[in-house]
Amino acid sequence: MTIRSTSPDARQENSSYHSPYLAEYYDIYIRDRNDVPIYSRVLSELASRDEPVTVLDIGTGTGRIIHALAAQCPSTNVRFLGLDNVAAMLDRAPDDLESLSLWKDTKAQPLVDLAIFAFGSVTYMHEPDQDERFFEQIAKILRPNTGRAYISVLKVLSDGGEAMAQSAQPLASAVCPSKSFPDIIYRETWPSHNLVGNVWHTTRRIVVSQVMADGQEKVSSGLFSHLNIRKARIWTAADVRMTAAKTGLRLLDIIEDTDESPDEKIFVLGVDV
Ligand SMILES: C[S@@+](CC[C@H](N)C(=O)[O-])C[C@H]1O[C@@H](n2cnc3c(N)ncnc32)[C@H](O)[C@@H]1O
Repeated sequence: MTIRSTSPDARQENSSYHSPYLAEYYDIYIRDRNDVPIYSRVLSELASRDEPVTVLDIGTGTGRIIHALAAQCPSTNVRFLGLDNVAAMLDRAPDDLESLSLWKDTKAQPLVDLAIFAFGSVTYMHEPDQDERFFEQIAKILRPNTGRAYISVLKVLSDGGEAMAQSAQPLASAVCPSKSFPDIIYRETWPSHNLVGNVWHTTRRIVVSQVMADGQEKVSSGLFSHLNIRKARIWTAADVRMTAAKTGLRLLDIIEDTDESPDEKIFVLGVDV
């Protein structure tokens, strides 16, 4: 399964993760999230049926979701696959999962029982027609009748989220110390944050600095000042329903207002057979 980008600039635009520092910064940012139980309940039910189960974590990043699911699911009947297009993220993924790798062999694609695109990552599907191409791929890989895709959209990027999105900028003073790299700190600011059509264009500056013995901060050439434009598409329930209808999928449920992850909506899709 590949989710191709048609824009030659897409890698640069969406370079929120393309370095070991940015991958770590993401991990620090995401560490308190508690969405895994939502998926682990679904997996427990699937695994209890005593039939082989394939789980695909799309945009697995550093393996947060799939690794936690594998740790909680003792069944040997479950195959876990992680997919991402950013090497720096996969490099940080724990390597104790044999199958946690980029899924390259398209001929060997198994049918998927549970596909997960967590933490609003579908927002990166913002290019023209990318929504349909992505959903078509989902329709191809899901097991007919029983396969389910759980696609998360953050409420800030869904119906009525504009006011929340407007106020979502990080505080200029936010400083985040690294856990992996000695004396390194991260600072993020957003020089601009604008809604263009249904896509938020956010210029993010993430400065990676070293704190010297005298307390001074130094940004040397070996470190980075990342400036990228993150493009994040708004996905309303109507968008999901319409794209699903065009691509042979059906919107079966919307999970929202959960105690674990109240700031997201998870769209549950199945193949329309
Ligand atoms: C917000 S992070 C989520 C990571 C992880 N699933 C989690 O919940 O912690 C989004 C991830 O999706 C990946 N991603 C974005 N577009 C992708 C694409 N077209 N194909 C594969 N991965 C993609 C990014 O590289 C990044 O690792």
